[in-house]
Amino acid sequence: MSLNFSSKKSLLAIALGLSLTVQGAENSVVVKHLANEQNIILLDSVKKFLLLPVQENAPEGKVNIIVNNEFQLEQNINIRLAREKVDYYVPLDLSAYQGKSISIDVTGMPASSLCWKEIKLSDMFDSSNRETYRPVYHHTPVYGWMNDPNGMFYKDGVYHLYFQYNPYGSMWGNMTWGHSTSTDLVHWTYEGTPIVPDAWGSIFSGSCVVDKDNTAGFGKNAVIAFYTSAKPSPWGDVQSQSMAYSLDNGKTFTKYEHNPILTSSERDFRDPKVFWYAPGKHWVMMLAVGQEMQIYSSGNLKEWKKKSSFGAMQGAHGGVWECPDLVELPVEGTKEKKWVLICNLNPGGPFGGSAAQYFVGSFDGKKFVNESPTQTKWLDWGKDNYATVTWSNAPAGRCIALGWMSNWQYANNVPTTQYRSTNTIARDLTLYRVGNELYLKSKPSPEIEKARVEKVDKSSFKVAGKYEIESLLRDNDGAYEIEMTIENAGASKMAFCLMNAKGEKVSMYYDVLRKQFAMDRSQSGAVDFSRDFPALTVAPVDNAEKIHLRLFVDRCSVEAFGENGRYAMTNLVFPSDTYNKMTFESDKKSFIVKSLKIYRLK
Ligand code: FRU
Repeated sequence: MSLNFSSKKSLLAIALGLSLTVQGAENSVVVKHLANEQNIILLDSVKKFLLLPVQENAPEGKVNIIVNNEFQLEQNINIRLAREKVDYYVPLDLSAYQGKSISIDVTGMPASSLCWKEIKLSDMFDSSNRETYRPVYHHTPVYGWMNDPNGMFYKDGVYHLYFQYNPYGSMWGNMTWGHSTSTDLVHWTYEGTPIVPDAWGSIFSGSCVVDKDNTAGFGKNAVIAFYTSAKPSPWGDVQSQSMAYSLDNGKTFTKYEHNPILTSSERDFRDPKVFWYAPGKHWVMMLAVGQEMQIYSSGNLKEWKKKSSFGAMQGAHGGVWECPDLVELPVEGTKEKKWVLICNLNPGGPFGGSAAQYFVGSFDGKKFVNESPTQTKWLDWGKDNYATVTWSNAPAGRCIALGWMSNWQYANNVPTTQYRSTNTIARDLTLYRVGNELYLKSKPSPEIEKARVEKVDKSSFKVAGKYEIESLLRDNDGAYEIEMTIENAGASKMAFCLMNAKGEKVSMYYDVLRKQFAMDRSQSGAVDFSRDFPALTVAPVDNAEKIHLRLFVDRCSVEAFGENGRYAMTNLVFPSDTYNKMTFESDKKSFIVKSLKIYRLK
């Protein structure tokens, strides 16, 4: 059977009351259905985009462009094309073939599917925001799925952020590096998809370096990207490491002709993080392999030798280790520096699913030694800070980290559709000492303070029983920061809560005796999209008598930073209306809120 949606038939369809999209007379979309769910779309004189209708709960079909009998894409694009209903459209970029006649090969889609009627050629793709949960001051893709931050580097005043991206749907798949840039770590501009799947597979996580001394021979100051090529096979993904270089500051990349540069028979072999080890004058690559981190060394970024592995009997092993990083950080208040190995793992986090742990110790260019092997240390005490890695070449010796603000337990199901997932706010990392132990401090990067557009101050007040403030938060648009200092005056629990008129709330409290800070999102709004979403997350605190706390709220998230980042807690929330009321409650005696500032952030 062949369907022709040229203008004549569309008019007929309209006359019959059928909902068909009218194509311009000069364009036609002809669909031929072959045996075994194979289909060909014939496009005559194509426009910029083919708009493909997606139904998120449909199985994936496979799409490829054919010009002159040849496949144009090395890998099929997997798209959940609509079978019974359209959730949204994604654009297939045909600008390279504009005005030409081409074919699209679609396999795995029944002839009865709705998509055949809904596919459209267009010069426009409407990417204006349709999501009330879209954050104001966090990075998020305009449309499509995002997971890990990748390849972050800083150069000439610009922060570059690449990210695991699916441009063909708001669920994981078709892994590609999306690219955004910023000059202030808060406001981002989308720059396109500079690294797309190829013969070696889709493009998994990795890192970038600025090759200042041209050690690889691609040019002085070339930006070099390292990523995992993940090739689908009937027996599962095959993972190897590849590289690509950019001579235009990360805008476009050329893949190295001898990829892949590092192979293995291991199943989980991925997420290269590369950095320059100045004392040894060589490059280091950290790789996540099963449940260990492997350390490689190279002089020219192309040939790598394994030096050691780290992981056996160290830290948490509830799941696969992923996205490593190794950074040297100052210990606050001293001249000392220590190395910190960041190790993301999934599952096995303290509150279920994915989380980041870290190890503090020494590194000699070849081997990392953990100095406190008996303790598991968590980088964040919420459920939604994963795949955290740091910026390469950051200015002024800073170590700036960014995480993916989600959790593999429910990332594909959170209640947004135009896009899915955002990043955390950027955080500056340092170390601080308590007794014999060193811990990581994640402080909101100071750039966020420039996003403050309005401030309301409330002077000191005493909380004995219940206390409510509404006016300070009433006109907010769901994107604000609350900064407060609290002093205990005999309470055993100091509670406060962000709430909306519907009674949806995020409850937080300090348990003075247990020395804990806790956040409960079980009644925060939409929570029933996953049984793993409602949660109470708890952080140990050194001091629950005198408190400094910053809360960053941005439509779908609450990030808490206690004592300038000695503990951080990042949790997603999906309220049906913005939280515009704050309540305080003491248990037993009282506590004093010495200062409360609310900043609107933009
Ligand atoms: C972590 C991760 C990485 C992998 C990427 C694939 O979230 O599983 O290990 O490279 O996501 O998208």
